[in-house]
Amino acid sequence: MNAADRQPEQRINTPNYSASGFVKVLAPGTVANLVCGFDVLGMCLNEPNDLMEVKLLQEKKIIIHSADGYPLPSDPAQNTAGAPLIEMINELDTPTGFEVTIHKRIKPGSGIGSSAASAAGAVVAANHLLGNIFPNKDLVRFAMFGEKVASGVKHADNVAPCIYGGITLIRSIHPLDIISIPSPDLFVTIVHPQIEVRTKDARQILRKEVLLKDAIRQWGNIAGLVAGFMQADLDLIGRSLEDVIIEPVRSILIPGFDEVKTKCKETGALGGGISGSGPSIFMLSREEATAIKVQTVMQDIYNRIGIDYHTYVTTINKTGVKILQA
Ligand code: HSE
Repeated sequence: MNAADRQPEQRINTPNYSASGFVKVLAPGTVANLVCGFDVLGMCLNEPNDLMEVKLLQEKKIIIHSADGYPLPSDPAQNTAGAPLIEMINELDTPTGFEVTIHKRIKPGSGIGSSAASAAGAVVAANHLLGNIFPNKDLVRFAMFGEKVASGVKHADNVAPCIYGGITLIRSIHPLDIISIPSPDLFVTIVHPQIEVRTKDARQILRKEVLLKDAIRQWGNIAGLVAGFMQADLDLIGRSLEDVIIEPVRSILIPGFDEVKTKCKETGALGGGISGSGPSIFMLSREEATAIKVQTVMQDIYNRIGIDYHTYVTTINKTGVKILQA
């Protein structure tokens, strides 16, 4: 078998270690699904971000520290940053390890890609320390092991945009086929009601079968959304932000969801819906002024309902995980 025929995991990977042996990265939040594209579309955000510090070890070992009190598992195999790094060091031909400190700013269970930020941040940082020997596609392959730890299944619609930046289409995960989609300059408003929805639970409640008429409507919307992004056709994007399969089931877990969606659109948002598996809700707007009005609408609704929340007004992050200090 020649080298080109080998599976990625059968390749011999010789690191070209960074001189400092230390890197600090900013790992961004992401909006998975983008309403109609369950498990196949995702978008990277400029806010919020996790901060991660990663140190190179000259032995085959992963050490995880949580810097700010979140009860993240310290067993690397159970940690969303640790599991991808275990996969990565198993493919190296020299004994290598990493000591990771996670400053978690993206609350777990928020629907803004908290587990993905840890997984993607860890693999991008580690790859930097190895001399960037792995291409982004391999980093996504490793990072998906973190998603498996978090939600029981591999999905790439948070980790791929977190690593590639912008908007990504994951046409397939077996084999991995990731397509970067051009992202228009839109504003994103997010409300995170302070309730926790575990991705594992939000997946378990989904119906396993869909009606053909719903599937037709959904794939029309996915194609419309991708075409809308590619042509920067904001009206088409707005029309295509419709989910007839997942949202009707999951939205019952999110108090105020229907009202938020209706009122934000009345205020001028192009459209939006559940961010990932929830409970966060995101809305896209053409103008920053509209995105700020949308934020006020969201705040008013949750103030009235009496649920604490965080809101963000941000933009699409086109570059993904960022190396801050090396
Ligand atoms: N596509 C995944 C889901 C994303 O909706 O379950 C989880 O953040």
